Amino acid sequence: MNLKQLLDDKVTAAMTAAGVPDAQAVVKQAQRLEFGHYQVNGIMAAAKKQKTNPRELAEKVLVQLGDDVNLCLEVAGPGFINITLTPAFLAHTLQKLQPSERLGIDEEPGKVIVVDYSAPNLAKEMHIGHLRSTTIGDAAVRILEFLGHQVVRANHVGDWGAQFGSLLAYMDQLEKQGEKPSSELKDLEKFYQSASALFRTDETFAKKARNFVVKLQSGDEKCLALWKEFIAESTRHCQAVYDQLNITLTTDDIMAESAYNDDLPKVVEELKQRDLLVESDGAQCVFLDEFKGKDDKPLPAIVQKSDGGYPYMATDLAAVRYRTNSLNAHEVLYFVGTQQLLHLSQVFAVATAAGYISKEQRFRHLPFGWVLKTDGTPFKTRDGADVKLIDVLNEAVDRAYKLVEEKNPDLSPEDKKNIARVVGIGAIKYAELSKNRITDYIFDWDTMLSFEGNTAPYLQYAYTRIRSIFRRENISSRDISGEFHLTDEAEIRLAVKLLQFSEAIDGVIEDYQANVLCNYLFGLAGTFMTFYEVCPVLKASEPHRTSRLLLCDLTARTLHRGLNLLGIETVEQM
Ligand code: ARG
Repeated sequence: MNLKQLLDDKVTAAMTAAGVPDAQAVVKQAQRLEFGHYQVNGIMAAAKKQKTNPRELAEKVLVQLGDDVNLCLEVAGPGFINITLTPAFLAHTLQKLQPSERLGIDEEPGKVIVVDYSAPNLAKEMHIGHLRSTTIGDAAVRILEFLGHQVVRANHVGDWGAQFGSLLAYMDQLEKQGEKPSSELKDLEKFYQSASALFRTDETFAKKARNFVVKLQSGDEKCLALWKEFIAESTRHCQAVYDQLNITLTTDDIMAESAYNDDLPKVVEELKQRDLLVESDGAQCVFLDEFKGKDDKPLPAIVQKSDGGYPYMATDLAAVRYRTNSLNAHEVLYFVGTQQLLHLSQVFAVATAAGYISKEQRFRHLPFGWVLKTDGTPFKTRDGADVKLIDVLNEAVDRAYKLVEEKNPDLSPEDKKNIARVVGIGAIKYAELSKNRITDYIFDWDTMLSFEGNTAPYLQYAYTRIRSIFRRENISSRDISGEFHLTDEAEIRLAVKLLQFSEAIDGVIEDYQANVLCNYLFGLAGTFMTFYEVCPVLKASEPHRTSRLLLCDLTARTLHRGLNLLGIETVEQM
């Protein structure tokens, strides 16, 4: 139940009945004044069009709204309608919501939504840059599933490019020297660097590497065996990161580039049949009017190179084809960095021209910026290399451990370890999710691990504080039942905030900006803290005690659910 939506619907109906043209658009501009006060201010413009008096028109709308017990209504100023939700309405709505695990969030008729996210290149280890797609994509997946959609996680990992030539050649060389590549592969990043260095400096090796690519792509058994061994090791590395980061991806969600191999010639054939292919410098290309390069020259989308190989573009077209034809996707979301903006718009345009995407199917690129250091430069090691993601995660947990030890030295080592994991990983993910997706963001340990401000530790701590109220009196949240009585201003504010959870979730889905939910949770925690300062809970007399306990419980559950939908865990005590 989305509060704003509920009001919008009521007011739209009343306006239409009062003869306001295009009522829906007028209501859309209604402003939410904080905490249960709404103002409809489009009446003046509507009255001007109709050449009537705005206050009179507003009065007419009010008559249509009738004596709705839920709303307190008045015409204000030159023709505003002010709407205030009554405490009785708030209490009644909370009462209905209270027993439900869904906390007021309705299930939607499920669509098939494919979410393309994380998608590292398997030649190397995951680095800090993968944090964004992985974390934001996983939050989207959790929210969409909670809303009732049938989500297909698509981890479009890179496992087939030219760089695998040198990796396989290096494995082969190690084997010939009597060494086991598997032990060397434990440090995947070093392995990649050694292989690339040989490729750059040793011409015989480079030749062999190029030869290995051809052999691999033509299905040579020996090459395929080496490749499989390499991919298996690299997949293990990724899975370890996902597990540590509490990401819902499993190996079953890998839909690698190589999986589309057999479809690539079919894609080229189908494009040819549609008369979309043009040969340019020996390559097979699609030229579409909307893509122009420098000097206004037409920009090709290359689907087959002059040597017969298939580039990234071809694989992505095959992936679109599979997602629409075989998965019957209604929607496909790509959580991929801004630098692939042109690539993906070409993919979508060519796929539409090829008839792979129908009008009803929605393909969206949801880009994001870079992760920067506090000095504003790209996040790299001192020698310019990528920072391994697993190292960052381990550092987060180590730093959180120190904080937990300072805060609560009496906890058992096990508890400290668990809290450090939950807080450290939560902090990293929340720092990411609480920013606007599109802009670059600064990775700053001190800010993200702070127990104050809009951070995971602050929200996790707020949660434990509420839980401790119940612990103190040995009350289980399941045991409390009774009615909401909202009299104090702070109670009313908290009630409204709790009822806005659904609005926050809808706000995220609009443009996949997880920060809408983060800001909501931060606001909820703050509203709760104010309530808790001014309204005694355990010491209050009935019926306030029960009502306030219910508010506490609902707040804890909303924080828990909200964080969980962001992929962030909570603990009971810290
Ligand atoms: N593996 C690619 C990279 O590392 C990202 C893939 C994104 N998904 C896609 N369908 N192109 O840049």
